[in-house]
Amino acid sequence: MPTLTIMPSGHKSDVAAGTTLLSAILAAGEKLISKCGGQAQCGACHVAINDGRKSLSKTTRAENEKLDAIVGVSSRSRLACQAQMGEEDVTVEILSFV
Ligand code: FES
Repeated sequence: MPTLTIMPSGHKSDVAAGTTLLSAILAAGEKLISKCGGQAQCGACHVAINDGRKSLSKTTRAENEKLDAIVGVSSRSRLACQAQMGEEDVTVEILSFV
């Protein structure tokens, strides 16, 4: 099972392929804002992928449209509610704190 490393805490957990980053981050006890219930509407779950980006599920049109509307987006940006784990390890960085 691939390992998800969550920064800046450095917390590591094994996460099954197909699990959204949002679910995995919350299951790990980390905090991440989700205002729309994981519908790619609010943009609050914006995270940066430090490693393993290619292992994640492809960016959907809805996710792309939301990311386009967010300030501070980079090539490492994903919405945690949309990006699903693949078979490889991933390091994700939480950008906002609650
Ligand atoms: S939880 Fe709202 S866009 Fe991800």
